[in-house]
Amino acid sequence: MIGSMGHEVRGVVSHAKGEPVRVETVRVPDPGPGEALVRVQACGVCHTDLHYREGGINDEFPFLLGHEAAGIVESVGGDVTDVAPGDFVVLNWRAVCGQCRACLRGRPWYCFNTHNASQQMTLADGTPLSPALGIGAFAEKTLVHAGQCTKVDPAVRPEVAGLLGCGVMAGLGAAMNTAPVQRGDSVAVIGCGGVGCAAIAGARLAGAVRIIAVDIDERKLAKARELGATDTVNSGATDAVEAIRGLTGGNGADVVIDAVGRPETYLQAFQARDLAGTAVLVGVPTPDMRLDMPLLDVFSHGGAVKSSWYGDCLPSRDFPMLVDLHLQGRLPLDKFVSETISLDQVEEAFAAMARGDVLRSVVVF
Ligand SMILES: NC(=O)c1ccc[n+]([C@@H]2O[C@H](COP(=O)([O-])OP(=O)(O)OC[C@H]3O[C@@H](n4cnc5c(N)ncnc54)[C@H](O)[C@@H]3O)[C@@H](O)[C@H]2O)c1
Ligand SMILES: [Zn+2]
Ligand SMILES: [Zn+2]
Repeated sequence: MIGSMGHEVRGVVSHAKGEPVRVETVRVPDPGPGEALVRVQACGVCHTDLHYREGGINDEFPFLLGHEAAGIVESVGGDVTDVAPGDFVVLNWRAVCGQCRACLRGRPWYCFNTHNASQQMTLADGTPLSPALGIGAFAEKTLVHAGQCTKVDPAVRPEVAGLLGCGVMAGLGAAMNTAPVQRGDSVAVIGCGGVGCAAIAGARLAGAVRIIAVDIDERKLAKARELGATDTVNSGATDAVEAIRGLTGGNGADVVIDAVGRPETYLQAFQARDLAGTAVLVGVPTPDMRLDMPLLDVFSHGGAVKSSWYGDCLPSRDFPMLVDLHLQGRLPLDKFVSETISLDQVEEAFAAMARGDVLRSVVVF
């Protein structure tokens, strides 16, 4: 605590493209109008944090990384009424504005003007930090917009709840909100990392009868089974499209979700659908990737091709509901936590993620 200058805390900073991250002193202002200061209790390591460190998102270094977090609200700006000190919250990167054309049409999950804190967090020398996804939660405390705080039942463990803040919500929502999977559907999920395994869990919750997991890593396929896959396909060894057709009476699946985000996996998702089926892209491609396919295939296959940003979630609607389902034993969110680590181990967690050793490493404070 440094009085009117705010707070000095430890945080994980990425200074330059490809350079290992460092734990440094971060200055966090006291909350102003519309803002909340949150004491972070847990924050998961997401592939997107690594994308930031590799310069794959933008060039606005230095970044304060971390964005899949849960914690306790410590203080709020004078005008804030929806959260209060002591509330247990999951942080989100979709604080909807209520004013843009998407919000006004009743589709706030497409909000084009989401809120973040207006004051900046800085390094000790005053250099402004760019918080990952407007959150920056690999830090003992972080400053966000109050709308980025979603209250959930405090009976859930922070390291489990925080995962809803990004990748796990993206996967669950790709199946439950974007597709949306209907009771009785057949579903295939390509790529079974944290996002793909969450899509499998979402398909199961939505009532899919057949859930086919596709990956090139047998360890991920084993994890996918634990989360509800009824069948698995190692697409390093077999043709994914033929295997999915074979498991669905020769037809293809009603819904195929691409949780990798590469041209080859997207084409598999496109082709492994039943006629008039739905393909959902939730994996994030890089700017250099291109798609080349006969336009006639798009026409003759029919159905829908969709993209899923953050699982088309509405945090205020979805986070408390998913936490309740977890607490009732109907959604095994705890299975996504492969290991808990300290703030000093984020760089090692990136390496574990690249090796495919983990679904999620979670920093606990
Ligand atoms: N749309 C969103 O809002 C959103 C949110 C969070 C993350 N994401 C994105 O989702 C993607 C997955 O994230 P994650 O955290 O699960 O990553 P991850 O690295 O943990 O998992 C990726 C999985 O894909 C598998 N894989 C790689 N190449 C494959 C191939 N050719 N065929 C089949 N499987 C293959 C890997 O073995 C691994 O199991 C990333 O691109 C991430 O940026 C999207
Ligand atoms: Zn809006
Ligand atoms: Zn993320």
